[in-house]
Amino acid sequence: MSLDPVKQTYEKLGRDDPLYAVLSRKGLEDNKWDPEEFFETGRREIEAVLGYVDQVGLPLHRGRALDFGCAVGRLSQALAEHFERVAGVDISASMVERARDFNRHGSRVEYFVNTVPNLRILDSESFDFVYSNITLQHIPPDAAAEYIREFFRVLRPGGIAVFQVPNGPPLKPGSLRARLYMLRRRHLRRLWKRVRGKPPVEIHYIAVEHVRALIRESGARLVDEVGLGRRRRQSNLRYCAVKEAPSE
Ligand SMILES: C[S@@+](CC[C@H](N)C(=O)[O-])C[C@H]1O[C@@H](n2cnc3c(N)ncnc32)[C@H](O)[C@@H]1O
Repeated sequence: MSLDPVKQTYEKLGRDDPLYAVLSRKGLEDNKWDPEEFFETGRREIEAVLGYVDQVGLPLHRGRALDFGCAVGRLSQALAEHFERVAGVDISASMVERARDFNRHGSRVEYFVNTVPNLRILDSESFDFVYSNITLQHIPPDAAAEYIREFFRVLRPGGIAVFQVPNGPPLKPGSLRARLYMLRRRHLRRLWKRVRGKPPVEIHYIAVEHVRALIRESGARLVDEVGLGRRRRQSNLRYCAVKEAPSE
């Protein structure tokens, strides 16, 4: 499944109105976000997420963190206040260019443009924490599933991943339902958005059973699943999983 349409959309959004593309708050379109306030939302989000990890009782080593789908670095910058080093990865070069301009932590934060459906640019077992929010939902499910596998490859044993992805009915690969899914979620949705003069942003989901299996098959243990609210019939889930240490 090609990632080109998603990349094209975010290249344009990164050039035109990057902060609003990340957080689309009414009245703040056309570059009206105050960057201070924008980055403050990231600080609050990361404090809440780290508080949550603590609450579920997982010990977290504050070495290196990965922010997958970093855009302009809203969350990478906040992670740098808690971790020694942070890597932000995004498909959009224009977003990453802005992220580098906004970076306040020098070489402790590195940004990478990655346009392929894997994270081979990152070494195995080189992260203590992986965080991804409002990103996997924009990626077709096959590729999103591969990124989830990759989260657990790049984590060290004992490392923790927290990521959000909407839930929906399971899709059998190659089935008519799966083909209709892409027709609706990619082609018709993009067309409809264009007709209305809106950015052609795709919204995808992965069935919860599939995410659970991905976590298990990647050598990790699902620790918690949190419902983040419902949009129409589709629920939105945040997963927390820990990479198991290899058995002796
Ligand atoms: C809504 S923004 C979220 C940014 C960030 N997670 C935050 O919450 O501040 C979604 C980001 O995901 C990025 N993205 C989309 N597909 C991607 C992919 N395959 N790999 C990496 N980043 C991707 C987009 O370029 C965009 O910057």
